[in-house]
Amino acid sequence: MSTRHSAVGLGQSWHYVREAYRRIWRAYERANLVATLGGVDRWRREAVSLYYRRFGESPLKVVDAGAGPGNMARCLKGIRYVVALDATPEMLSLNAEADEKIVGIFEQMPFRDGSFDLLVAGYSLHASIDIERATAEFARVAKHQVVVSIGKPDNKLARRLLLLYTKHVLPWLVCLFTPRDVCLEYKKIHTIVQALPTNSKLREVVERYAEVIDFRVRAWGAVYLYLASSRLSSTQQRR
Ligand SMILES: C[S@@+](CC[C@H](N)C(=O)[O-])C[C@H]1O[C@@H](n2cnc3c(N)ncnc32)[C@H](O)[C@@H]1O
Repeated sequence: MSTRHSAVGLGQSWHYVREAYRRIWRAYERANLVATLGGVDRWRREAVSLYYRRFGESPLKVVDAGAGPGNMARCLKGIRYVVALDATPEMLSLNAEADEKIVGIFEQMPFRDGSFDLLVAGYSLHASIDIERATAEFARVAKHQVVVSIGKPDNKLARRLLLLYTKHVLPWLVCLFTPRDVCLEYKKIHTIVQALPTNSKLREVVERYAEVIDFRVRAWGAVYLYLASSRLSSTQQRR
């Protein structure tokens, strides 16, 4: 767990991007629906279904990382306890799904090793300060992870098109359906995509800490989703 590689993630730009979450919460899911051309919740459900298909049973204790309004936890069935962790109190204030809400960051999660059966992260890993530290923490605190997030296509043309879409189309499209102070924050998705590693590099980072069981891309690589299991030993995985 101690090997460090060159950092990927938003770094110093994180504060600039995080400010957006304080503003967009009012029209959050509507804006997402427009920005993803309707795919947002379908891909959340697909990600969560990877877990049920592989393990059958319901997870008992779940942490929702970057939970916001709790859209990922809402896709889960039969769970006993959900802890929502998010850096933005305004986003957490909308969350009616969680049993416990904690303001904190991915890169330093306030939990013991193996505290959870499952970690879910919906559209939040892309906004990390440091993606490697975040994925290391995800693997440390939970046995299994289900993540869906904005990606960066491996294909050069698809990557170029995504950068053009996020810069010149997406904010204006969202402006057709949401108040101006909300939609202009969606310009920051371009900053996020610029800072991201490509999907195959991201997968390599995750694999340093977890065994990737299923990894899929959607929307020509603009979104990825995966199921992974922690590489921590069973003694570290105590509750
Ligand atoms: C786009 S929202 C996703 C909300 C919800 N999971 C969903 O599926 O819609 C991303 C959330 O991640 C949180 N976030 C971003 N970076 C974070 C970090 N490094 N640590 C903790 N939370 C973070 C933001 O505050 C925001 O509420």
